[in-house]
Amino acid sequence: MEFKHISVLYNESLDGLNIKEGGIYLDGTLGGAGHSKGILERVGRCGRLIANDLDTNAIENAKVVLADYLDKVTFVHDDYKNILTHLDELEIDELDGILLDLGVSSPQIDDPSRGFSYSKPAPLDMRMDTEQELDARGVINGYSEEELSKIFFEYGEDKLSRKIARAIVREREKEEITTTNRLADIIERCYPAGYRFKHGHPAKRVFQAVRIEVNGELEGLYDFIYNVALRLKKGGRMAVITFHSLEDRIVKNAFQELEKDCICDKRLPVCVCNKRQEVKILTKKPIVASEQELKDNKRAESAKLRIVERV
Ligand SMILES: C[S@@+](CC[C@H](N)C(=O)[O-])C[C@H]1O[C@@H](n2cnc3c(N)ncnc32)[C@H](O)[C@@H]1O
Repeated sequence: MEFKHISVLYNESLDGLNIKEGGIYLDGTLGGAGHSKGILERVGRCGRLIANDLDTNAIENAKVVLADYLDKVTFVHDDYKNILTHLDELEIDELDGILLDLGVSSPQIDDPSRGFSYSKPAPLDMRMDTEQELDARGVINGYSEEELSKIFFEYGEDKLSRKIARAIVREREKEEITTTNRLADIIERCYPAGYRFKHGHPAKRVFQAVRIEVNGELEGLYDFIYNVALRLKKGGRMAVITFHSLEDRIVKNAFQELEKDCICDKRLPVCVCNKRQEVKILTKKPIVASEQELKDNKRAESAKLRIVERV
């Protein structure tokens, strides 16, 4: 199957990174390698890119897409949350720029065998890292009704989370739920007839929630954003693209915390917290896709880009 992903907010994120010739950059979410290629085109002969992804398919594909630049790229197959250890091993103390384009890539959604999509019959999987043990089948059949309801509510913001969790437990008692289409049917039956025509597919939010749970997408994200930003050189920039409000809130909060200077009680005569401003936020409001991009790529609809610069 062809590995095709259109990079979202491409110019906005690359321009926002203000890429310097000879700089060292990190792409924490390589995906289809579109952004990575853009970075490599701009860093020139002496630049370097650390390109990381959890998905081995993405890395194998990127070796082809980035064939002209392989001497400048170091591929890392890991969760980006472990990247600081890899940077230490590579003896990279400081970065000129960091890009994170969170979430799933189009090939992951479009390849039915990966089980991410509610609209394609497939085994329930949803693992970005296919070597990982926990998959969507494990979540749907192994979690208690309360646990399911909690993740549907928190990660999917689904108002019918309890009803859906109850229906899943009832159905799995008859027979284990092993396919995306059976799960989507169970969810659809919890919604009033006709809902779909007004609000889109009713399984959308639960599938998002299960995906977030399977891949631990929000766990440790705040700490990671905070800590990796501290690896930027003065003047170095970090750009983060998110696709749902939960991720965007975490990124926004981490950036705001990094920007704060002194968090002492205002009544104290001298600072005792030692907190210093680490970054300047360059996007008071997140950058969203232009009308043209939305016309060309439906997946850009919910994308939000936030950028900071190290001070
Ligand atoms: C939206 S795509 C990136 C697309 C890329 N910017 C491009 O231009 O083609 C997101 C990628 O991040 C990867 N990913 C998601 N969570 C990850 C994590 N925790 N650690 C490493 N990679 C992750 C996914 O496997 C996917 O390939």
